[in-house]
Amino acid sequence: MNELRVNRERLWDSLMQIAEIGATENGGSCRLALSDEDKVARDLFIDWCKDAGCSIEIDRMGNIFATRAGRSNQLPVATGSHLDTQPHGGRFDGVYGVLAGLEVIRSLNDHHVETEAAIEVIVWTNEEGCRFAPAMVASGVYAGLFELDYALERADKTGVTMGAELERIGYAGDRPCGEHALGTLFEAHIEQGPILEQADDTIGVVTGAQGTRWYTVSITGQDAHAGPTPMVGRRDAVVAAAALIESVERIAHERSPQAVGTVGALTVSPNSQNTIAGHVELRVDMRHPDARMMTEMDDALRDSAAMIAEARSVVINVDDIWYKPPVVFDSDCIASVREAAAALGYSHRDIVSGAGHDACQVCSVAPTAMIFVPCAGGLSHNEAESAKPEDLEAGCNVLLRAMVERSGVVES
Ligand code: HGY
Ligand code: MN
Ligand code: MN
Repeated sequence: MNELRVNRERLWDSLMQIAEIGATENGGSCRLALSDEDKVARDLFIDWCKDAGCSIEIDRMGNIFATRAGRSNQLPVATGSHLDTQPHGGRFDGVYGVLAGLEVIRSLNDHHVETEAAIEVIVWTNEEGCRFAPAMVASGVYAGLFELDYALERADKTGVTMGAELERIGYAGDRPCGEHALGTLFEAHIEQGPILEQADDTIGVVTGAQGTRWYTVSITGQDAHAGPTPMVGRRDAVVAAAALIESVERIAHERSPQAVGTVGALTVSPNSQNTIAGHVELRVDMRHPDARMMTEMDDALRDSAAMIAEARSVVINVDDIWYKPPVVFDSDCIASVREAAAALGYSHRDIVSGAGHDACQVCSVAPTAMIFVPCAGGLSHNEAESAKPEDLEAGCNVLLRAMVERSGVVES
């Protein structure tokens, strides 16, 4: 078994084929969750899995389970990730983990390997959370961290719900979400940060992930004429928003290098050049590997909001969208990844994920670990995201080895 390897060209070709679905003019991919592009990618993935001899199951949240049967009825050894992307997404975030799983199955087929436990590849719905907040919502329902109805009712900014979109694209499966038991999960993903590339390491042995908190901050002042309204006494929601954005950055810098704070989305009403805006809504993302620091950052944000509201005579509401505490993955699964990387001769290092992943949800209900590979400049959530075929192959070889070690092989 130790001589088993994946097919680099086939993995790369499958990535480039899916990248064409929702391809953007700057070389990235845009497949928002449950969009037509997401559907086309899902359909293609399922066709490929059926061609590879897998059975397919889809649950109420549209999570896809592609299963390569094993000889025994042990719980499956699973992998997978997501096919949905950011609006300016790259060609590797999420989709690499899905197609690395398919490449594992194709490679086992090539070598006529029968495993004891089944091997599965999963596509989790709406990992990104950009169209329907929060992120990792369908893997969260699977892990019992969100209620099904809550998730199905999540709406995008046009008011369309996840439930309606699942029905529309034909992925509202009949299997209850969370019922499909897993024995182990390994997720392969690009690092989306600079650590592996700077250290010149090929594999990240992911031991866990930092905490994430998302907020909606709404600021209400007063619409007024930009011309005759004196500067003193204005209740300008945009100026208050600017002060709040500055405080998000300050709160993170004060706790650097681990803390990060981002305001990635902002809407202004009425959004007219000659009207002082009476309303602004901000979306805030704050993260830290330590849960206590997450609490401290939360307190600091709310204190800043109160002071800004007072100083600017506006009303500021800071509403929690979602809090995902820091997670630590399963030590045995971590060891499987580390040993596979070492046995294959790949340079590797332990790493904590800066990004959230579906594995961060599933680890609540099944032993889980992740495998990282470098991406150029650590850049992700950017159309220029890129990774080397040899690194993607290395991560997939580690995935193959870790999964086979856990599934067991039927000696022929
Ligand atoms: O937000 C995240 O970390 C992930 O990309 N959903
Ligand atoms: Mn991802
Ligand atoms: Mn992402």
